[in-house]
Amino acid sequence: METSGKHVTCQLMMAVGTAVIGSLQFGYNTGVINAPQKIIEAFYNETWAHRYSQSIPPTSLTTLWSLSVAIFSVGGIFGSFSVGLFVNRFGRRNSMLMVNVLAFIAAGLMGFSKMAASWEMLIIGRFVVGLYSGLSTGFVPMYVGEISPTSLRGALGTLHQLGIVVGILIAQIFGMDAIMGNAELWPYLLGFTLVPAIVQCALLPFCPESPRYLLINCNEESQAKSVLKKLRGTLDVNNDVQEMKEESRQMMQEKKVTIVELFRSPLYRQPIYIAIMLQLSQQLSGINAVFYYSTGIFEKAGVSQPVYATIGAGVVNTAFTVVSLFVVERVGRRSLHLTGLMGMAVSAVLMTVAMALLDKLKWMSYVSIVAIFSFVAFFEIGPGPIPWFIVAELFSQGPRPSAIAVAGFSNWTANFIVGMCFQYVEQLCGPYVFIIFTLLLLVFFVFTYLKVPETKGRTFDEISAGFRETAAAGTEKRSPEELSTLGADSQL
Ligand code: GLC
Repeated sequence: METSGKHVTCQLMMAVGTAVIGSLQFGYNTGVINAPQKIIEAFYNETWAHRYSQSIPPTSLTTLWSLSVAIFSVGGIFGSFSVGLFVNRFGRRNSMLMVNVLAFIAAGLMGFSKMAASWEMLIIGRFVVGLYSGLSTGFVPMYVGEISPTSLRGALGTLHQLGIVVGILIAQIFGMDAIMGNAELWPYLLGFTLVPAIVQCALLPFCPESPRYLLINCNEESQAKSVLKKLRGTLDVNNDVQEMKEESRQMMQEKKVTIVELFRSPLYRQPIYIAIMLQLSQQLSGINAVFYYSTGIFEKAGVSQPVYATIGAGVVNTAFTVVSLFVVERVGRRSLHLTGLMGMAVSAVLMTVAMALLDKLKWMSYVSIVAIFSFVAFFEIGPGPIPWFIVAELFSQGPRPSAIAVAGFSNWTANFIVGMCFQYVEQLCGPYVFIIFTLLLLVFFVFTYLKVPETKGRTFDEISAGFRETAAAGTEKRSPEELSTLGADSQL
């Protein structure tokens, strides 16, 4: 079934564009801490010297720095897990609006940390903006998925990732010495978080609430219809409304879907495992080893201007997200994800060969740049954007918030693990460190090939009906307790 309204209206673009400011904020704070490391470390040192009349011991400095970097993902873990507390109570749009309070607090804490001579403020600020980012990685794909027409859901869903990568790129550029990555201006670099927060707060009140939320959760049919008419730019929104009503009917038959239920019910077990594996495939691909430590990696690979190579990686990252945006509705999610994973695995092998031969062949440093750029490019073809928006597609309205919370939690936890462990593992494995990611990428490739269905062009209801059929087909093999959880749906 096709839903009405295939074209992109101003209302739709305005709503999606405003939502993805949250993604940009997440990307900015992912990338911002990389370039000014030495300068902020000098501030930690001065502050320490001022307080304790001695310079900071190197181990304390490393600990403080690692904490400053990694606490962002700890915030993300808590934030992403709390998505369900907001979205059904306050609605999708209002949740996005409310949590900007966190962005303002974080901007204040980080922006004034130098003036207050307090690294504690900076670290707490990173945690708070991590909370905001974790919540955003749930809110944005959910909202965008729910307001988009079926035929554009993948392309618009990719805009979340585009927001993230543009945020990373802006941070890399602003972080250059000549712009804000210097001893005087770094508080502004971190305080910049204020700007997207202000813009988002100014625009959100003009964006509509998700019509699915209005109709299915609040039973406000006429309001849902009027929002749909504006979003679709047509008066005939019957197909959309019918599809939502069907989903609503299914939801009535489901018990309230808690996180535990997602794993217990045979209806949701398969999609939730798929959602988790896709999130892990994104993070355990090793992408953030590049984005957190690229400058160091390029240095080791013998590149003479590592900062520019890092910015180059940011540009490639953005360019290929745009490529994905244009092909995702034609090629489909599954094929793009498979292509991306395989391309990353091959690039990781190339990178390893280049790093291993560097001592003998100097020109290998060029090969390593090509390998890292192609690693990043293949990431953005599939494993970057797809896991974020596919979770909203794999679940119907009832289980969606819990599923997005679980998926986000898995993503951020894996992000934290890679961020914390990469440098230690690299010390152990030397140039062979990316072989670990190659193996993981191959495992994820096989999993995707065997288990992930194509969702392109199918309505939310059709996708969950597919999983219901699979669950019902497996009923013969199930215990009586599982059968009772399947409930009335399996008899459809
Ligand atoms: C994805 C990941 C994020 C990563 C980014 C790189 O959005 O979730 O962790 O930094 O891609 O482009």
